[in-house]
Amino acid sequence: MIYPIVVYGCPVLREQTQNIDANYPNLNQLIDDMFATMYNAEGIGLAAPQIGLSIRMFVIDLEVLAEDDPQFKGFKKVFINPQIVEYGDQMESCDEGCLSLPGISESVKRPSKIRIQYLDEKMEPHDEVYENYKARVIQHEYDHLEGKVFVDHISPIRRQMNRGKLTSMVNGKIRCRYRIKTVK
Ligand code: NI
Repeated sequence: MIYPIVVYGCPVLREQTQNIDANYPNLNQLIDDMFATMYNAEGIGLAAPQIGLSIRMFVIDLEVLAEDDPQFKGFKKVFINPQIVEYGDQMESCDEGCLSLPGISESVKRPSKIRIQYLDEKMEPHDEVYENYKARVIQHEYDHLEGKVFVDHISPIRRQMNRGKLTSMVNGKIRCRYRIKTVK
């Protein structure tokens, strides 16, 4: 099933999320549906709040980038109950976008290295270090679980520049190539 993607302005994107366990209903189906929803919108990452669920889970698939950079080959992952436990000292800037903020792309500064603990789709624990673009995508999705979106990180002047677009999203006055859910 392809879910509509929740757009900026919907309260669920600002909520704190809850850990889940292996008994979460239809977890495997939900994971499949999150990937399907993400692929349908041509995204590389999707967090549960973006389909209206306040739970700590996100999916990432960077395979589309593998043609340009082999490090992304087969990088398809599910992160359940993740915790970023360490951040590197070095910061890096790069343009980001988000399926919940269609039409906006802005440079975001983030630590270039993280250490993250999480469960995979089989509920197996992992403790891993990621750098550069992988670390960036993980931090972007992780933010969604903390009730944050990428425009929270941009400068006040850049926010001002995007105010019109953000207001249109809140008012449900946007067009999008995939199915969305807005507040109004
Ligand atoms: Ni996002």
